[in-house]
Amino acid sequence: MNDNPKKKFIGSLPQKELLKLYSKHVNGPKVRFFKSLGLGVIPGERDGIFLRTLEGPRPGDPPLEMYNCRTSGGVYNLGHGNPRITQIVKDALDSGLDIGDHILLSEQRALLGKKLAELMPGDISKTTFGVAGGEAVDCAIKFSRAYTQRKGCISAIGGYHGHTGFALATGDPLFRDNFLWNLPEFKQVPFNDVDAMRKAVTDEIACVILETIPATGGILIASEGYFAEVREICDENGVMMIIDEVQAGLGRTGELWAIYGGLYPNEKVVPDFMVLGKGMTSGIYPLSVCSYKPFIEKAVYKDNPFIHISTTGGSDIGCVIALEMLNIQSDQKFLNHVKDMGKYFQRGLEEIKEEFPDFIKEIRGRGLMWGVEFHNETNSQLAMLSIIKEGVLLDYCDNKKDTLKLLPPLVVQKHELDVILSKIRTALDKLKKIKK
Ligand SMILES: Cc1ncc(COP(=O)(O)O)c(C=O)c1O
Repeated sequence: MNDNPKKKFIGSLPQKELLKLYSKHVNGPKVRFFKSLGLGVIPGERDGIFLRTLEGPRPGDPPLEMYNCRTSGGVYNLGHGNPRITQIVKDALDSGLDIGDHILLSEQRALLGKKLAELMPGDISKTTFGVAGGEAVDCAIKFSRAYTQRKGCISAIGGYHGHTGFALATGDPLFRDNFLWNLPEFKQVPFNDVDAMRKAVTDEIACVILETIPATGGILIASEGYFAEVREICDENGVMMIIDEVQAGLGRTGELWAIYGGLYPNEKVVPDFMVLGKGMTSGIYPLSVCSYKPFIEKAVYKDNPFIHISTTGGSDIGCVIALEMLNIQSDQKFLNHVKDMGKYFQRGLEEIKEEFPDFIKEIRGRGLMWGVEFHNETNSQLAMLSIIKEGVLLDYCDNKKDTLKLLPPLVVQKHELDVILSKIRTALDKLKKIKK
């Protein structure tokens, strides 16, 4: 028994025991995978931008202490344990809030819905809540099918929208083949290819779904005008445009929405649906968002207002946290901070690229969302391990493994970026020496 309240839940058993339990009762292959990388570790204490493992990877090794530049894909935009978020959770619990009852109406959902409507691009002003990003994507596709009475969906090759029903069907075969999940009406086209999109969008298509900056696909940056053209193609064919900003939204690019000025300052596209997840509640209580234009509501809910429900989606407690998160992250000073830090980080990464031309091919991104493309997958994987061991947590893009992904918390400070950049540099230096 651990008497220290801070440690009540962290380090309750030695790491070795926990790895065994995880392997036996949760996911054995995952434990083997991490061990094979020399990363058989379990995250323990976390605070602000830092994450510390319970113990080191091998017996006797010190715990890994890492600057969290993975942030679980933009969950910890405000860092771990942000005081404003922690306080609002305590206040909400003290006032007796819980998840609420999804069949009943909700004060908290009404207030969060209003805030989202104020902040969303154009006239997007209705929201259906969920728990996970995939659930919100499923909702957007379902609603598109209801509105258009068509079945087809076009997504981008390498894009990623989740592992649930329709979301899974939009993704790469890598994630769906094993589950025999291939909907013939769902097709993929190359990202940033207007002609391919034009050919694919017919009068049998209900929706086009795209990430503004495909993250799993390699932090890809579309040409200026691409999304405006996709908008036009959708309009010409009566097709719904769904934008997934689960990773790129909520200020990550330095604007609240990537699709509305964050990707290109002069390009402000209004989709029919906007999907959000991950950072909605700063990593405390899951909540996802499918927001849409008001004309869509009637086609979905007209005969039955309970036709789409989620018991824990849009929980009262989640809504309270999300509202506070939006108050923080939509503030212009906050967004300016992301822009400033983003420019600083970009400069640093570009300098590193110049220093290691044999390793790094390209740096891509916006704000505090960066992809570092290596010349080959072997080097990107080796670099990732070396950088993690140096003390910066990051990972690779699952559908483009030659690219490492850096998403530091949006509250990161300049001096922290200096340390992160210097650790990346040191890690690459070490790798360069080993490779000689
Ligand atoms: C862009 C994007 N959309 C949707 C999802 C699915 O979110 P969730 O894992 O919460 O279902 C993810 C998850 O990584 C994502 O990156």
